[in-house]
Amino acid sequence: MKLGFIVEELEKLKNEGLYVNIRTIESEVSSWFIVDNKKCLNLTSNNYLGFASEKKLVEKVIEYIKIYGISPAAVRTISGTMSLHVELERKLAKFKHVEDVILLQSGFMANLAVIPAIVSSEDVIFSDELNHASIIDGCRLSKAEIVRYRHLDMNDLEDKIKKYSNKRRKLIVSDGVFSMDGDIAPLNELIDISNRYGAILMIDDAHGEGVLGRNGRGIVDHFDAHGKVDIEVGTLSKAFGVVGGFVAGSRFLIEYLKQRARPFLFSSALTVADTAANLGALEIMESSDERVKKLWENKNYFQNQLVNMGFNIGSTKTPITPVIVGEEKKAQEFSKKLFENNIFVQAIVYPTVPKGTARLRVMLSAIHKKEDLDFALETFEKIGKELAII
Ligand SMILES: Cc1ncc(COP(=O)(O)O)c(C=O)c1O
Repeated sequence: MKLGFIVEELEKLKNEGLYVNIRTIESEVSSWFIVDNKKCLNLTSNNYLGFASEKKLVEKVIEYIKIYGISPAAVRTISGTMSLHVELERKLAKFKHVEDVILLQSGFMANLAVIPAIVSSEDVIFSDELNHASIIDGCRLSKAEIVRYRHLDMNDLEDKIKKYSNKRRKLIVSDGVFSMDGDIAPLNELIDISNRYGAILMIDDAHGEGVLGRNGRGIVDHFDAHGKVDIEVGTLSKAFGVVGGFVAGSRFLIEYLKQRARPFLFSSALTVADTAANLGALEIMESSDERVKKLWENKNYFQNQLVNMGFNIGSTKTPITPVIVGEEKKAQEFSKKLFENNIFVQAIVYPTVPKGTARLRVMLSAIHKKEDLDFALETFEKIGKELAII
């Protein structure tokens, strides 16, 4: 059997505790949801602001679908650009304080779109060692030389960048908020180094959108660094609660990507429902910062309590809450026991995080009530003691 090796690989994953059991959701995704037939507290979605089940967005989707139908059924450059796409791009650009935005089908796609369009084999990329897989893949696709610098270590970045004066172009790329640890890139230092060494600076703001900055405008707004980051990547699948990605920047960057970015040129556009829901989410974010404030209130309360109980939550600075367990099998066991107690939070293991740093990644949302968090804390403490994690 030609594919016989796959059976062995799957067995190996199971033996090492690296096999991911994919659960099925059978309701809307809210603070509580039905998973594998069980009502569970949702501590696992990236639904920071609770938009994934927001009724105003549902209404907006229905309204737009009645007018525009299902989808453009085409690549945008061929015949797929709808006025809705243009409207969302224009509104996102205004929200992010940039000249222009290009929509892609996901955040992953946005990274695959922009990096190979900007650099190639004559160039060098400096990439934080904990950058998201989509950045890593975008870098590989570009064929540029890839130099990894130590996580958040600006001295290491500078030592490395100094040695590459001979390259045509230099690109520094970093997650804004690191997805598995919740820590934040030192944006001012990155801007300074990129300027001193003539490097293009690209930040992936996937977990900053809806979380950092005024009304959730993201990391650049948080550091008041508008106009100082050359390329921003965003996703519409986390705080926006929908799906989609985008690149934000200067008018000529976006014009260029519309000519050169392969996922834009060779893959169809977002559906009407996605685009309408994103427009609805953006309208709510623009009109009020209530949800962002509640998210941070929940973050402060939940994380302080976990630390007081003795859990290791690493160096998070955001609502991403890694509960670091270490051993892969123990993290899987922790997740399983929580599920038995009506809490769904997935264990995150290698290759998503380095071996030996397995964790539960608790994702907090503005729609969690205090009683939800108290129920979670009580259960975490009970199981944490049972498994000798605390
Ligand atoms: C930093 C970062 N970039 C990109 C993505 C991919 O986003 P999407 O789900 O929209 O493809 C993620 C999602 O996990 C992420 O954390």
